[in-house]
Amino acid sequence: MNLDLAVLEAFRALTGIAPDGIWRAPGRINLIGEHTDYNDGFVLPFALPQAAYLAAGRRDDARIRVVSVDLGERFETGLDELAPNQDGWHAYLAGVFWALREAGHEVGGADLALASDVPIGAGLSSSAAIECVLVEALNDLYDLGIEPMDRAKLARRAENAYVGAPTGLMDQAASALCTAGHALFLDCRSLAVEQIPFDPERHGHAVLVVDTLTRHSHADGEYASRREDCERAAELLGVPALRDVGDDDLAERLAVLADDQLIRRARHVVTEDQRVLDACAALRADDFAALGALMTASHVSMRDDYEITEPSVDLTVETALAHGAAGARMTGGGFGGCVLVLAALDRLDEIGAAIRAAFADSGRPAPATFVARPAAGAGRLA
Ligand code: GLA
Repeated sequence: MNLDLAVLEAFRALTGIAPDGIWRAPGRINLIGEHTDYNDGFVLPFALPQAAYLAAGRRDDARIRVVSVDLGERFETGLDELAPNQDGWHAYLAGVFWALREAGHEVGGADLALASDVPIGAGLSSSAAIECVLVEALNDLYDLGIEPMDRAKLARRAENAYVGAPTGLMDQAASALCTAGHALFLDCRSLAVEQIPFDPERHGHAVLVVDTLTRHSHADGEYASRREDCERAAELLGVPALRDVGDDDLAERLAVLADDQLIRRARHVVTEDQRVLDACAALRADDFAALGALMTASHVSMRDDYEITEPSVDLTVETALAHGAAGARMTGGGFGGCVLVLAALDRLDEIGAAIRAAFADSGRPAPATFVARPAAGAGRLA
């Protein structure tokens, strides 16, 4: 069943009435620019067709009632009971109410039915999709008049302060602001955005997403420790953020860190920022060979300098390249999840088959694959 119909039915079962509306907010894939967002740098994500769907209706009291179609579970709480540092699927929703109220927005209770087809823990921003779909719905239901970038920031606040994950702004900005047929260039310091046309199939290429199905349970702690390394490196270099380290004479500049790990972490971020700018130029020139080379260089940097890849994603990238991909890289926070493969259309089948064979040969379960086309960002469906 379509997820918009699924949430409509679930809402009716929860409340006995029709919702005030149905909203959708997508997951995202990051084309390039990994672990740069919290360093005030650059990112280049695009929205996926996979999304979170929410049927929502206002309530006159201060209660929140929510049903998850995917889990078959219900949750209920009062607005005055919300407190940060919560676990569980409903924390992403409760956190949005909390963030809106904390920012002074007059938001009341709501009945909600949620469903999502964004794979969980795959590096495709399933949590940002949930946060963004609710911000979108409450903004409409309560006439809050919040601009799209501020909606993204409030969704991020729910993630950082309520759920307790110290992430950057990329995922929520992508879900809130992306448009179909474009990648979103975001400067995470100025928050300037540019929609860059991205239609690889018009140029005989496609982005194949390979979900390795590897999920790393220590990813949260590793993410936080990368962030700390970056902050320490910026402090030692005397700059507000690693964004401010140019890549001229990089080896010399980073040598003052006098610590091999810090040097490699900082080198990843500084070179990755430049790769995002170069990737924007490649997109504008429809130069898929250049884009592919930048993606592969990004993967090597994540593998060797930032140390956030793991054997399944490395195997996927190596196999794709050995079978003629233009480029390949892991996407998202790291330690598993998805690889993006950029390849000519006539190579896709061979590359997909080779990756499946490599997984079978090494005793891994078959990866899930799909071709990703840049989809629309968050919005109201009905
Ligand atoms: C996660 C975070 C983002 C970003 C990426 C890495 O997806 O939520 O803010 O830091 O990891 O690029």
